[in-house]
Amino acid sequence: MEKAQAYIRVQELRNMINEANRRYYVENSPTLSDYEFDMLLKELEALEDEHPELKTGDSPTQRVGSDLKTRIPKAGGKEFDQYPHKYPMLSLGNTYDMTELQAFAERAAKSIGNAFTYSCELKFDGTAICLTYKDGRLFRALTRGDGSVGDDVTGNVKHISNIPQELKVPKGFVPSLLQPQPWPEEFEIRGEIYMPWPAFERLNEERVKDEEAPFANPRNAASGSLKLIDSSMVANRGLECTLYHLLGEDLPFQTHDQALKAAESWGLPVSDKRKICKSIEEIEDFINYWDTERKTLLFATDGIVVKINELPYQEELGYTAKFPRWAVAYKFKAEQALTRLVSIDYQVGRTGAVTPVANLEPVQLSGTVVKRASLHNADQMQQLDIHIGDFVYVEKGGEIIPKITGVELSRRETDVTLPHFPEFCPDCGTRLVRDEEEAKAFCPNQTGCPTQIKGRLVHFLSRKAMNVIAGDATIDQLYNKALVWNPADFYELEKEHLLMLEGWKERSAERFLKSLNDSRKVPFERVLYALGIRYVGETTAKALARHFGNIDRIAEAGISDLLAADDIGEVIAESIYAFFRDEANIETIDRLKKAGLKFEVADAPKKLSSSLEGKTVVISGNFSVSRDDIKALISAHGGKNSGSVSGKTSYLLAGEKPGPEKIKKAESLGVEIIDEQAFREMIEHI
Ligand code: IVH
Repeated sequence: MEKAQAYIRVQELRNMINEANRRYYVENSPTLSDYEFDMLLKELEALEDEHPELKTGDSPTQRVGSDLKTRIPKAGGKEFDQYPHKYPMLSLGNTYDMTELQAFAERAAKSIGNAFTYSCELKFDGTAICLTYKDGRLFRALTRGDGSVGDDVTGNVKHISNIPQELKVPKGFVPSLLQPQPWPEEFEIRGEIYMPWPAFERLNEERVKDEEAPFANPRNAASGSLKLIDSSMVANRGLECTLYHLLGEDLPFQTHDQALKAAESWGLPVSDKRKICKSIEEIEDFINYWDTERKTLLFATDGIVVKINELPYQEELGYTAKFPRWAVAYKFKAEQALTRLVSIDYQVGRTGAVTPVANLEPVQLSGTVVKRASLHNADQMQQLDIHIGDFVYVEKGGEIIPKITGVELSRRETDVTLPHFPEFCPDCGTRLVRDEEEAKAFCPNQTGCPTQIKGRLVHFLSRKAMNVIAGDATIDQLYNKALVWNPADFYELEKEHLLMLEGWKERSAERFLKSLNDSRKVPFERVLYALGIRYVGETTAKALARHFGNIDRIAEAGISDLLAADDIGEVIAESIYAFFRDEANIETIDRLKKAGLKFEVADAPKKLSSSLEGKTVVISGNFSVSRDDIKALISAHGGKNSGSVSGKTSYLLAGEKPGPEKIKKAESLGVEIIDEQAFREMIEHI
């Protein structure tokens, strides 16, 4: 390619790759498949090799992607404390074919010159983690971040059940002067945190029910969960960890395999799906075996990692700027199926969002028969140039329903027809409006569209909301007889009303009324979730309840007050703000209050003083009590807690080992830095 042309293509590729990296690492919503991404990167690498003068230090070929949240300037954005990695946290070179793998093996053999072995392992599809243990105790957990600095997620990692906080002494270990403990005084062990399929499916089902965007795959679900602000929520996400790389000074191991076996003997989770191979043929057998067998695993793997097993040879081979030269990843291709698109349904959800869903000629894909696939929105339909009757490719990226990834134009017949996204609500006929930001169509008739009304009622009674035993059919009956239209109507139902309905008897009516009565005891955070405020799922409802304590304070809160609560960004804040400015919603809440539902947290913290009134405090590091207790103290003394240091911060409250990035920012903005003692004096002496 000519230099001028190459220059233009290089710029284009860098822009596409940078944007894809941002969507993948920062927003957790990838736009490209791994394969598409790797192909762009390979094209860029080839062009840079052909025209070395176009190579730059900031090219994505020279860097690993970054998962650091603070990279996106977002109002109300949250920060974790950040720490530098002791050893850079690199990624792996990828290959999709055996020839490249052979080239890797040949390069290694040439450079080593002696006999050596390979350690072949599964490539776990999760998010990378680096654990540091000191004297047998978990000291810190860092994400990869940008490879040099990572986010401190120790608090969250402590809620992952197979990560030990203390190592176990292996049987038969006898302490001696030379080796007082079985493990090195300090070491790092790296691995992957992943979400097994069952946990992933459960989480996405809940999210879809709450009309929250489902995670695209278990990998995004794992990294999103690891970055949750509320540590205790991590425990419910079913995350697991596997560790595959031990690092430290003067470690007493000769091979990678020995190191992993030792780690296992200290109680660390190490995969048993490994094999020491002596030849490329053995590696190929391992790959072929797992390419099929992976479908039976309860977690996602996207390939095989091949590592040189002998540690002195690893050291000899060393690293490039991005990858080790002693390891490579062979990636499996995503499975696809080709089938005919029969029709498209347009489904209306509880919030009025209209989603196109494809009906397909049934086809076998990764062990299940697929009949329906998601089409996301009108833009995607247009981008794919999809026609009814087309042959389409379906892929399971891990979603509950698979997605359509392409159209096979060579098989398009003449009688295909162009689908039209409806202009009117398929349920109530109201003209749809388009939310440009979300590229979604909405039925604006919130108060009159039967699907939306019934959807809200179903949600209100659902298990994680008011937990009232009632099926969709009951709600249909109550709605059709005009007995219930608004959630507050449930609490005005009487036995006589229910007995008028077809199929209802004394016992069923009494049981339903008892269940409704019991729901009066449901805690505030679940009542808040039951109200069905757009984007307020379980996690957000919990965060709001904890931050504000009661419904009146939420209702009065301005956008900036809402942004100060954990896990709340601009879109959610605006939705909450709008909800409480709607008279109909206020009226419903008033009626529900009269019905005796809980609208404040049970253990609402008492206001202890006003010493921090009007002050915003950011905390960093460890304290004599838990960070949650410190946050509660700030709020009990009238202050506000915020996650990130900005011009509006009054104090940075720095405990033990505060995050260096926060300190730096506070210093540069002239924000006063106080320690725990100064903080306690402040709240106790004024
Ligand atoms: S070894 C110096 N082993 O895949 C890099 N990585 O795409 C050492 N991964 O960055 C990494 N399973 O986050 C290694 N068995 C395994 C792995 C593995 C998954 C991840 C890891 C790595 C990424 C590269």
